Amino acid sequence: MSHPNTSTTVTDIYCPRCHKRYEIDTIQSLCGCGSPLLIDYDYQKAASTMTPASLLGRSGRMWRYEEVLPVKLRKNMVSLGEGGTALIPSKGIGPELSCANIFFKDETTNPTGSFKARGLGMAVSRAKELGLNRLIIPTAGNAGSALAAYSARAGIECKIIMPRDVPKPFLVDAVYHGAQIEQVDGTIKDCGARAAQLSAEEGWFSIATLKEPYRIEGKKTMGYELAEQFNYILPDVIIYPTGGGTGLIGMWKAFDEMERMGFIDSKRPKMVAVQSTGCAPIPRAFERGDKVADEWQNPVTLAAGLRVPGAVGDFLILEALYNSNGIALAIDDAQIMHETRVLATKEGIFSSPEGGASLAAFRKLLETGFIKNSDKVVIFITGTGYKYLDILEDEI
Ligand SMILES: Cc1ncc(COP(=O)(O)O)c(C=O)c1O
Ligand SMILES: [Zn+2]
Repeated sequence: MSHPNTSTTVTDIYCPRCHKRYEIDTIQSLCGCGSPLLIDYDYQKAASTMTPASLLGRSGRMWRYEEVLPVKLRKNMVSLGEGGTALIPSKGIGPELSCANIFFKDETTNPTGSFKARGLGMAVSRAKELGLNRLIIPTAGNAGSALAAYSARAGIECKIIMPRDVPKPFLVDAVYHGAQIEQVDGTIKDCGARAAQLSAEEGWFSIATLKEPYRIEGKKTMGYELAEQFNYILPDVIIYPTGGGTGLIGMWKAFDEMERMGFIDSKRPKMVAVQSTGCAPIPRAFERGDKVADEWQNPVTLAAGLRVPGAVGDFLILEALYNSNGIALAIDDAQIMHETRVLATKEGIFSSPEGGASLAAFRKLLETGFIKNSDKVVIFITGTGYKYLDILEDEI
C-alpha cells in the first residue's frame, strides 16, 4: 500500500504582486492587495526525487508530478483520470501549409470533456483537505461541469452560477451530478457578481478563476506534460484560447519551476493568447502595451469560454505574453467556427469553438510571419465539441 502522505514539497502561499506570504493550510482567496495568490514549493527538495528519469516510471496522469502539487494526503486526491492527454502531430493542416512541426494538445479527452478537469480536480482536492464543503463557481460552462463532477466524487456540496444562454449539455450534466444551479441573464462577469454575493451571504467558498490558488496548480500540469512530451525541449510557440487565463499563467509558472529544478533551460516558448473579436480585452491591452486590461463592453462570442470581459489575472497573462515575446490576437466568430470544422475534417479532432480559435490564430500568425514554417508549434484544443452540439449544429 502506498504511504498516506504524498511527496509534496509545498511550503506556503505567496503574492506575485506585493510578495506577501501566507501559511499553506490557511484558507485564502485573493491577496489583500487584490492580486491572485500562487503556491510555492521547495524546488531543491522536489528535484531530489522528481527527475525526468523518475517520471518515466510513474503512472497517474496529472498526479504524477506529486512533489510540485499541493495536496498533502493521498486520501484527499479527488481523481477521475485527468491529464496525461495526447500530443497529436498535425497530419492535414500542417503539411498543407508546409509546416512539419505542428502539434495539437488534445484536452478534449479529459473527464467532463475539457482541460477544466485539471484545475477543478486540484481545487476540489485541496478544498477537501482544508475542510471546505460548500463550493461556488461562476462559469461559462466547462468549469461548472468539472466542479459538479469533482464535487460529486468528493461528497462536497456545490453551486454553479451560469449564464442563461450556455449550451444545454452544461446544464444537464451539472444537474446529473447533483449540483445546485442558478442561471443569470448576462455574462460570466455577472455570474461572478452573483457568486460573490452568495458567498458573502450564505458562506459558499468561491472557486472562481484565480480567486483561490489551486486551480492554477492543476492547470500547470499541462506545461509539465508538454515538456515531457517534447523531451524537455520546449516548443517555439504555444497557442492558447484565453478567457480567465489560468492555463496560460499555469504553464508559465510550470516552466519557471522546471527551470529551477534543472529540467529545462531559460528558453521559453512564445505564448499566444487568442480571443474573439467580440470579446478581446487581452489583445486590445497588448496592442496598447498596457499592463492591465480594461473591461470589454458588450462581450459576444459563440466561443463561450472566451467570453470573459475582465480577468482578475489580466496582468499575469500580459506579463507572460510580454516576457515570452508572445502576442495576443482576436479572431472573428465566423473564422472560429470555420476552423472548428477544419479541425474535424482535416485532423479528426471534434473540438469546441475555442480550439477553432487556436487554429485560426495559427493560420493568421503564419501569414504575418510571426510563426515560421520550421517552428515547433502547439495548438491547444481545450474542450470537446460534444458539449456545444446545439451551436455546432446551427453551422451545418
Ligand atoms: C473550452 C474552453 N477553452 C478555453 C477556455 C478559457 O480558459 P481560461 O479561463 O483558462 O483562459 C475555457 C473557459 O471556460 C473553455 O471552456
Ligand atoms: Zn498582494
